[in-house]
Amino acid sequence: MQITFAASESTPLAKTGGLADVVGALPPELVKLGHQVTVYLPFYARIRRLIEGEPNYAVRSITVPFRSYNRFAGVVDGGKRDGVQYFFVDCPELFDRKELYGAAGVDYADNAERFALFCRAVIEASKLLGVPNVFHVHDWQAALIPVYLRTTYLDDPVLRSAATVLTIHNAAYQGKFPPVTTEQLLFPWEIFTMDQVEQFDRFNFLKGGVVFSDLLTTVSRKYAEEIQTAEFGELLEGVLLKRAADLHGILNGVDYTQWNPAVDGHLAAHYTPENLEGKRICRADLLHAFGLEKVADTTPVIGIVSRLATQKGFGIVAKIVEELADRDLAVVALGTGDPYYENLFRGWAFRHPATVAVQIRYDDALAHKIEAGADMFLMPSLYEPCGLNQMYSLRYGTVPIVRATGGLDDTIEEWDAVKGTGTGFKFEGYDPEALLIEIDRALEAFRDRRGWTRLMRNGMARDYGWSGPAKEYVRVYEEAVQRKT
Ligand code: ADP
Ligand code: GLC
Repeated sequence: MQITFAASESTPLAKTGGLADVVGALPPELVKLGHQVTVYLPFYARIRRLIEGEPNYAVRSITVPFRSYNRFAGVVDGGKRDGVQYFFVDCPELFDRKELYGAAGVDYADNAERFALFCRAVIEASKLLGVPNVFHVHDWQAALIPVYLRTTYLDDPVLRSAATVLTIHNAAYQGKFPPVTTEQLLFPWEIFTMDQVEQFDRFNFLKGGVVFSDLLTTVSRKYAEEIQTAEFGELLEGVLLKRAADLHGILNGVDYTQWNPAVDGHLAAHYTPENLEGKRICRADLLHAFGLEKVADTTPVIGIVSRLATQKGFGIVAKIVEELADRDLAVVALGTGDPYYENLFRGWAFRHPATVAVQIRYDDALAHKIEAGADMFLMPSLYEPCGLNQMYSLRYGTVPIVRATGGLDDTIEEWDAVKGTGTGFKFEGYDPEALLIEIDRALEAFRDRRGWTRLMRNGMARDYGWSGPAKEYVRVYEEAVQRKT
C-alpha cells in the first residue's frame, strides 16, 4: 500500500511535542511491513538549516489560490531515511520562521493560511509525485486535506480513489478561525454549517477533518471514549459521537531505538533490567546537571519533562508545592510553555534551592537524562490523549505517578506491594489531595528497596514498541481503502 503522511512535526526535524515522535517513528515501521510511505512537512527554517547544501526541488512551483491573490509553493525532496520518502512544502513567506506555530505564546496571525497552503500543496504535489492509496493526516494542521478532497477536488479523477484517515493527537487544538476563512480559502459557503466545518461561528479545521475523513483514529482507547463526552470533547463530542463507529483508538508506540537505557547516547552510563548499576551513575549525573549534588542517596528524585500547559496537570501541582517541600524528596523539572507555570516552577525552585531545580527550555539530551536519572516521573495530567513520557519512564525504570486519564490510564497499572504486580502509581480525581496521597504512596513504596526494584523491573519489561500499533494502523488503512472501492 502507498501511504502519504501529512503533519506539522516529525522527529528529528521539527518537534514541539509527542506528535513529532509519532510521525517520526510510525512511517519506518510501516515500511518494515512492506508499505511505501511518503511524509510531507512544512519547510520550516529549522529544516532548511538541517539540510546540506542547496535544497533539491522535486517540484518548482505549485500555485495555491486564495481569494484575492495566489501563493506559490515549491516541494523540496528531503530524500529517504529508513526507507521513508520526505518532501517539504516550501513557501518562505509562511514557513521560513523561527517557530512552528507562534512566538512568545501567541499564535502566528496567518496560521489558517499557512496550514491551508500546506494542505493544498500536499494534494497538488501528490498529483505530480504520486497519489497514495491513503492520506494519513495528523491534527488540525493537516485536517483540511480530507476537506479539500471532498469539496474542491471532488471531481478530480486522479484523486478520487485516495482514502483519508485523520489522527487526532489532541482534540483541544482545533484551528479555529473567523467565518471569512471559508471564502479566503475558496471553499463553498455550503460547508460553513454546524454539521460540517462551522462551530460557534468559527471555521474549524479539525472539525472539517472529523466530518470529511473516511476514518478517524486517536492515540489511545481511553481517549477515543473520552472525546465522545462533553468533559473531553472540547465541543467536538457531537460530531465525534456521530462518527463513533469510524473512530479507532490506537495507542502510540515507543521508538526503542531512541528511548532505551541500554544504548541511549545521552546518558552517563547504560543499564538493563538485569544490571541496574548504571542507573545510579545516571542519577548522580542528573543531580549534577541540576546543581542538586547534595541530595541524599535515600531521597527519591521526581522528574518532570513537559510542555508547561494546563493539560499537563500543573494546576493541581501548584496547590501542593509547599507540602511537597516538607517531604523527603527532590524534584527536577524541564519544560517550557505557559509563563504562569514557568514562574510557578521558578518560584518553587527559588524557595527550595537544595531540593527543587528547574530548567525552562527545550533540551532533548536533558529529557533523556531525566528519564534515566530520576526515580519517579510525574504526569498528573488533566487530560492526556496518549502521553509518551510515561512509557519512556517505564523502560528507564523510572516509576510513573500519573492521573488515570487517556493513555496514562491505558498504560500504567497500579502497584500492588502484596502481589508484586503493577508498574506505577495512578490516581483518579483531578484534585490536589488525591495527587498528594498518591505521591505519598510512592514515597512509602520507595523505602522498600526490594519491592521498588521489582516495581522498576515490572515497568522495564513492558513492551510498548511500534510493531503492534503499526499493524493496527494498516488495518485501518485497509478498511478506509475498501470503503473507497
Ligand atoms: P505532548 O505531545 O502532549 O507534549 P507527549 O508525552 O506525547 O506530550 O510527548 C512529549 C514529547 O516532547 C516527549 O518526547 C518529551 O520528551 C518531549 N518534551 C516535552 N517538553 C520537552 C522539553 N522541554 N525538552 C525536551 N523534550 C521535551
Ligand atoms: C499530543 C498529546 C499527547 C500524545 C501526542 C502524540 O500532543 O497531548 O498525549 O502523546 O499528541 O500522539
